[in-house]
Amino acid sequence: MNVHASALAEAHLPDEQTTAFARDAVEALSQQPKRLSPKYFYDAAGSELFEAITRLPEYYPTRTELAILRKRGNEIAAILPRHAALVEFGAGATTKVRLLLEHCRFAAYVPVDISGDFLHAQASGLRRDFPSLAVHPVAADFTAPFALPAAVADLPKVGFFPGSTIGNFEPHEAGGFLKSARNILGERALMIIGADLEKDERVLHDAYNDAAGVTAKFNLNVLVRINRELGGNFDLSAFTHRAIYNREHHRIEMHLVSRKSQTVRMLGTSFAFRPGETIHTENSYKYSLDRFAGLARGAGWRLRQTWTDAAQMFSVHALEAAE
Ligand code: AVI
Repeated sequence: MNVHASALAEAHLPDEQTTAFARDAVEALSQQPKRLSPKYFYDAAGSELFEAITRLPEYYPTRTELAILRKRGNEIAAILPRHAALVEFGAGATTKVRLLLEHCRFAAYVPVDISGDFLHAQASGLRRDFPSLAVHPVAADFTAPFALPAAVADLPKVGFFPGSTIGNFEPHEAGGFLKSARNILGERALMIIGADLEKDERVLHDAYNDAAGVTAKFNLNVLVRINRELGGNFDLSAFTHRAIYNREHHRIEMHLVSRKSQTVRMLGTSFAFRPGETIHTENSYKYSLDRFAGLARGAGWRLRQTWTDAAQMFSVHALEAAE
């Protein structure tokens, strides 16, 4: 057993996901500059904090996307095949998918998410409210190839990836995800996908630096998680949240900034921080309509239609698999 594995065993968290978290965290904090993947934000507390973010006055994406889906539901439904299987990549709150299910007659719904428990809780609510819909949850990491349930093999497929989660992927990962989704959904598939748009930097800045400090708490929660799950000793008061817009890369960057010179221990390893040194915890890429179309094209999709709100804050795209 190596030093990390034995420290992990001491922390009594030997399951597979925690082992991957431990491996990634040690590697990420050993890098220069230090980085952590945003996927580690979403434990139970982090998911609740994210839900709180979506209700903040400064955080426009969720509200704006919902308004587009509500207003354009009939137009979206008009281009989707009837009696298709709707495959949602990642399954958060069901508010958005319910809008699609209300507007369009789907035969089956396949939510795909790494958290099996969460999926099953959601599935039972949808079965109750849409009794004629066959719900087939798949517990899988949707960023890697996975198999669709045999029960939907003969149905036309429609992918759904709302929320601008694509913006949290690096551009090459976003292209890889779209290619993989195309392979999984197959020929003649369609995909409905939400992408946040480039806009006034002040608006972006405020959306990720809210006055109530919820985004700061969400960012710092990853350190709480390291302390609890990996036996870390991060002093939360010694780090601050920073979100800045990087114009060159068209992205909001979130960082945790060390307030002082300090050494933190985790899994038997020490990590030194200089004053002002940061852990880069998230990128949230913002796309122009053209750059998004280019990304989709490069991954084997053709842009069928795009809807935005009047202020051009957010976009919802219908993609169709190119031959
Ligand atoms: C989930 N994702 C699209 C959010 C975003 O806007 O990039 C995550 C988030 N990070 C800070 N606030 C919200």
